[in-house]
Order: sequence, then C-alpha cells, then structure tokens
Amino acid sequence: MHHFQYKDNELFCEEVSVSEIAGAVNTPFYLYSHATLTKHFRAFDGAFDEMDHLTCFAMKSNSNMAILKLFALEGAGVDIVSGGELFRALRGGIEPEKIVYSGVGKRAEDMAYALESGILLFNAESTQEILLLNEVAGKLGKKARASIRVNPDVDPRTHPYISTGLKENKFGIDIRKSLEDYLMAAGLKNLQVSGVSCHIGSQLTEVRPFVDALGRLKDLIRKLRDAGIRIDYLDLGGGLGITYDKEAPPHPREYAGAIREELDMNELTLILEPGRVIMGNAGILVAKVLYTKSGEDKHFIIVDAAMNDLIRPSLYGSYHGIEPVKITDRPRMKADVVGPVCETGDFFARDREVEAFESGDLMAVMSAGAYGFSMSSNYNSRPRAAEVMVKGDEFFVIRARETYDDLVRGERIPGFLK
Ligand code: LLP
Repeated sequence: MHHFQYKDNELFCEEVSVSEIAGAVNTPFYLYSHATLTKHFRAFDGAFDEMDHLTCFAMKSNSNMAILKLFALEGAGVDIVSGGELFRALRGGIEPEKIVYSGVGKRAEDMAYALESGILLFNAESTQEILLLNEVAGKLGKKARASIRVNPDVDPRTHPYISTGLKENKFGIDIRKSLEDYLMAAGLKNLQVSGVSCHIGSQLTEVRPFVDALGRLKDLIRKLRDAGIRIDYLDLGGGLGITYDKEAPPHPREYAGAIREELDMNELTLILEPGRVIMGNAGILVAKVLYTKSGEDKHFIIVDAAMNDLIRPSLYGSYHGIEPVKITDRPRMKADVVGPVCETGDFFARDREVEAFESGDLMAVMSAGAYGFSMSSNYNSRPRAAEVMVKGDEFFVIRARETYDDLVRGERIPGFLK
C-alpha cells in the first residue's frame, strides 16, 4: 500500500496534487511520500519485534539526507558501501553504532574514516580485506568489529545483475572456505570477529532462498562457536522484493516469520539491510510529455525524463508502471515511452498499453523510489532532477534541481589552452 492515489481523476501524493508540485518545481522530479516511507519502515522493522534485531536501511537505494533523517528518527541504522555514504549517513543523523559497512572494495582511507566514526560492524569480503582492516585499525590504535560476508551459494532466482549469492558472483567469501579465514581473523590483534553476514540478491519474491541461506549460516555459526569464536551478529542483508507489475512478494511479516522459525539460536542480534522494500513504492518519477510521434508501426511518447534520471529499464529491462497524472477519457494506445538521451536504450516502457498521452501531459513513472535518483547521472549534460517529499498537505523540496553551473563545477581549462 502506498499514498499515491487518484482523487477525481487527478493523481495525489497524500493530500497534495502532483500537478501542483509540477507547477512549482518544474519537471522531471522525484516525489516521495512521508507517510508511505514511515509505514513501510515500521511494517518491516515491526515484523522483527520479537527478535533482537537492528534494521540497517540499505542507503544505496536512496541516500537523500532528508530520507536518512526520517529513518534516523525512526531508530534505523544504515548499511553503507562507501566513505561517501558514511559521510551522508552521519550528516543525516544516523548513529554510528548503528552503521554496518558492506562492499567488496573498501579503501584503506574509508576504513579509517569508519573506524574513527565508531561504526558497529565491517562486513569483510576477502582475505586481503581482513588483513588490511587489521592493519588500518592497528595504526589508529583501534579494534575493528568485523564479520565475514560469506557466499552461501544459493540461487535467489532474480535478475542476474542483482543476484549476488551464487558461487560465481564476486561477492563475499565462499562459505566452505570461510572457516579458514575466520580462524585467521580471530588471531589478528586489531580485529574483534563478531559476526556472520550474507546478502544473496535483490528483488527476491519468495522466502525460500533466504531460509536456505540462513540454514547454511547457522551451520557456520555453530562451527565458529565450537571453535571458541564468539558470534554476536547475524547479518542477513537485504533483498526482499516489491510489486512493480504483477509480482507477489511475501509481506515482511511472512519473511520475518520464516526467519524466526528457522533461526532458533540464542545470543544473536539479527541485522537486516532492506532497501527496495522500504523505498521502492514510496517514490515516483514525474515527467512531462514533450512530443508524440508515430512511425510505420510504432508510436513514441517522448518525455523530459530519461535514462540518466532512472536507468533501471535500460539496465535491467525492468518494469515500471506508466500512469497519467490526470486521467482522461481518451482511448488507450500501445507506445514506447522514451527520453531525450541519444541512446536507443533510453526508454521507460516499450510496446506498452498506456494512456493516450499528448504533448504537455504529466506522467508518473511508478515504483521509482529505490535505485532511481541514487543511480542517476549527468549523461548528455542533463542536470539531475529535483527531489520532493510530501507530508500530509505540504510538500518540501529535499534536493534542488541541479543547475548548469553545477554541471561544470570542478572542471578546469588548463593554462596551455587559454
Ligand atoms: N545489502 C547489501 C550488501 C546489498 O548489496 C544490497 C543491494 C542491499 C543490502 C539492499 O538490497 P535490497 O533490499 O534493496 O534489495 N540497482 C539494482 C539493485 C542493486 C542492489 C545492490 N545491493 C536495481 O535497481 O534493481
């Protein structure tokens, strides 16, 4: 459930009409609903209430500081994957002791920044990373709490680009070899080995792969505890899917229930890293139709948003609903919805039956809250879109649209060219 609904054929976000916002901020823009974000966070986090747990929002899905602040006020932690994300998280008011640091290529300077900030946990993904983390911590006179991200080799049955838990993926350390690394890490002076973690993929629409992965992690935890290694944290990563089109993913309650049933272990804090399930359907991308044109057997709707704003359809062939901001009684039509970028891959939908949009109409690209703005770029020298949050009957610009000056900031023409 989300708060993007029609009232008298006009799309509203909570109590504000989307056209009114478009009039004020121009297009394209991302629009998020405060009530939906809050509801999704509470539904997810609340589903784990009976377990000792920490919900660490995967901020790669959306790292706007207003959104981080909203989650911080809800008591959330975050899962970060870079020094830049750590910077944003701290600025957004996330408590350092609720931050976990994932990622296959952490740099020494970012490790140092995280250690100095006092984050909760590093999820190490290679033997070399474990050694480097020990070295960096030693230089700072700190002890790094670490877990190893293991690769449990389960098939999440999702898109190959967002599937991470198979043994051929670059992520984590093969679970069968991880014991060796754990024993090595436990002997390092500046590490406090304290967790086991995994993340098997994204947009999963069944609980089975999560439960299978958990089963394998439990075996490992038993072996580690037998070897005298204390394990306080079990980080299951993110990955719960959402409905973009006709998918029917499990409700967080069902997901949490399956995990509770399988877990049956004491003295563990469960860490969860949801991104999409909280953000995805809490945001839309609003664009304006520039032109329509018909080829021999194709009809094109050309809008002012493009793949640089939302790359998911181009990159993964993913589905996003295309809805009118004002419903008309024109007959529907089959069309390609495309952006102005000079790439054939610049599309939001192909051969899709949609409203018969006309030039000047506003369009909502649905389910765009996760991996929308955060994956946007300046390709074709397009300033990045504005971001707006609605709360009740008010709206707030939470990121100003970039200007042309923003586009060239930092660029220099060397003297010999002057
Ligand atoms: N934890 C780790 C270590 C991750 O790598 C990810 C996502 C998450 C948590 C959050 O997963 P979620 O709950 O959002 O599924 N750009 C792609 C998705 C890439 C996901 C990468 N890792 C997309 O637009 O579908």
